[in-house]
Amino acid sequence: MSILSFGGEQRMAIKKDTTGKLFTLLTNNSMYQMKVDDLGFLVHTWFGKRTPIFDYSYLNVGRDRGFSGNPYIAGDNRAYSLDTLPQEFPTYGNGDYRESAVRIRYASGASSCEFRYESAQILEGKYSLPGLPAFYALKEDTADTLVITLKDSTQNVYVHLYYGVLEEKDIITRSVTVENKGESPIYLERIMSTCTDFQFGDFDFISFYGRHAMERLLSRTQVHHGIQSVGSTRGASSHHYNPFVMLAAQGTTETRGECYGFSFLYSGDFLAEAEKDQSGQTRFLMGIHPDNFCYKLDSGEAFHAPEAAMVYSAEGMEAVSHRFHRAIRNNLCRGEYKKARRPVLINNWEGTYFDFTGDKLVEMAEQAKDMGVELFVMDDGWFGKRESDNSGLGDWIVNEKKLGCTLKDLSARIHALGLKFGIWFEPECISEDSDLYRAHPDWAFKVPEKSPVRSRYQLVLDFSRKEVRDHIYNMMCNVLDNAQVEYLKWDFNRSIGDIFTTALPADRQGETAHKYILGLYEFLENLNKRYPGMLIEGCSGGGGRFDAGMLYYTPQIWTSDDTDSIERLKIQYGTSFCYPVSTMGAHVSASPNHQTGRTASLSTRATVAMAGTFGYELDPAKLTEEEKAEVRTQIETFKKYYSLIQDGTYYRLASPYENEEYTVWEFAAEDKSEALLGIVSTKLTANNLFTCIRLRGLDPNAMYRMGDKTYLGAALMEAGLPMPVPETEYQSWNLHLVKES
Ligand code: DGJ
Repeated sequence: MSILSFGGEQRMAIKKDTTGKLFTLLTNNSMYQMKVDDLGFLVHTWFGKRTPIFDYSYLNVGRDRGFSGNPYIAGDNRAYSLDTLPQEFPTYGNGDYRESAVRIRYASGASSCEFRYESAQILEGKYSLPGLPAFYALKEDTADTLVITLKDSTQNVYVHLYYGVLEEKDIITRSVTVENKGESPIYLERIMSTCTDFQFGDFDFISFYGRHAMERLLSRTQVHHGIQSVGSTRGASSHHYNPFVMLAAQGTTETRGECYGFSFLYSGDFLAEAEKDQSGQTRFLMGIHPDNFCYKLDSGEAFHAPEAAMVYSAEGMEAVSHRFHRAIRNNLCRGEYKKARRPVLINNWEGTYFDFTGDKLVEMAEQAKDMGVELFVMDDGWFGKRESDNSGLGDWIVNEKKLGCTLKDLSARIHALGLKFGIWFEPECISEDSDLYRAHPDWAFKVPEKSPVRSRYQLVLDFSRKEVRDHIYNMMCNVLDNAQVEYLKWDFNRSIGDIFTTALPADRQGETAHKYILGLYEFLENLNKRYPGMLIEGCSGGGGRFDAGMLYYTPQIWTSDDTDSIERLKIQYGTSFCYPVSTMGAHVSASPNHQTGRTASLSTRATVAMAGTFGYELDPAKLTEEEKAEVRTQIETFKKYYSLIQDGTYYRLASPYENEEYTVWEFAAEDKSEALLGIVSTKLTANNLFTCIRLRGLDPNAMYRMGDKTYLGAALMEAGLPMPVPETEYQSWNLHLVKES
């Protein structure tokens, strides 16, 4: 076998060989390949390191394994079975008994389909998706799209597989469109956006689980025979499992070993599953959770599945994170605040909860301004009848009695202090005790004749319905247009249940959950268009919808309702595997902490919050003069290192899971000119052991100055930096290193 030469259709990042059957997708460090085989099935041949282009289908060794059926067109070839072949888009019911990428129920009731190759197109640029988030290419990116069309062997049903390649960003994306060109309706019962079949390898399944106020904890388990999955059926991507999963070769570390990362750009129900089959192959699938999904496609209709993004690294987990960080910051987040420095904010939630007046907020803002804060955010409680969390949602009318003034006046007073002004909304929810609910009880999700499941005393509005969205949108615009508002916090404080819409007939109810998410995205898109300069921070009871889909609309998300700096070490560590620090909302809150009762120094609380978007969430009136002075210095420090923190390369140097004594991270400038270390001591011991932590991302041949000492870059990376010895519990350090010229 020789290395292929090419005469076929070529773009920079996608190559088609002269037979027109082999498609190779190239990024700087990875290669993805598929082939149309002699029977017209689209088989997967390779996803891994970039090598010279070669036909990797030699890995797909067919063998009669018994009980693995053969498609009729394979004739006498008992070694050819879809049950064992690596495929790009395996279908349900056609002799592949592993988890499938698609299941369609035809008008006859049959669910067995057989998709075979029809055509391929290679297009310049990265595709986008109607009404759905997707990575986009910048002018300087080499970006191409491959569209492969498959057709069912008996029905007029087509599948278009989209592959987007951002070559320098090392990202490959996938999406799928199912099109019904037949005369009868079909029911799409399962649609996965991506499927990767690994012919060999023993993997670990690395996922991020959690709960409210403790999101994205790391779980690493061996992929075993059978099916392993994480997902959500809560109507939101959830606190409980994140739609980001890695498959890592066993033994893979931060800096060594092969690792694949998969991120789903979707904020609703999802499923990510790995299945190790009878012959030791591993299939990985990611898409909309099929449990509450069934889409009817009438003749001429099409369904577009959300995008999934994949990254490969031969150099451990860190490179997967770096590639996602870079692409999310540059090719997913949008708007003015993608690049502009985000203001340092103060949010009144933990400072006052529902108990505030306009005067109290102005007093807080005044003191915050004096400490260097730039944006004041008024959280929950300013509207309708909302003195606690059991009423008022849906009545987006300013409670002037409570504020003692109009919103316009309040925002003017805040602006007069020299601060920007922000405001909280929870547009998707409704309280039963609200004027909106009394007027439109049918606007909340409810199953006929059944009492709905309540959560935080509230119900969820049916955002699949345009008239519901429009009403809320108009109410919100009315508030936003009548005051100067530069920031909006979009909250969502429950999981969805009782999904049922009065807008669809019985056989279309399975579309509601997805149409809800499309409605949410449309709403956010319109809001962004109407208020292009407004910074929107996503939130769902903290980080219950921290996903790449939301980041397309909101460049930052409140990471967790747990503001305890020590708990945040694990939360922010887990979040960092996919999401850059520029997306992680992080605030300094009061001590003892309101969620845990733990006491930590102001300095440590700031060290941890600085590994995020940085802000405060406390009542400044409760700070002493010394603490206020310290806050002033913290804000100056954050501003000084802002671009290093937000745009630098983030390294997890000591994990809160593996190192009992210290959690350490580093931001290194891309040109290696400086670095900032964040160190938090997590355990006090007598006569403690000597700990040296190795730095990364420095110039090995350069000298770096830290305080009055200088070190060789190579020494810091090979031997490490001796850790400072803590004198008090949870002591922390921010250490800055500058390359000497
Ligand atoms: C949950 C959010 O995560 C909090 O920050 C706060 O905004 C509350 N909701 C308000 O109800």
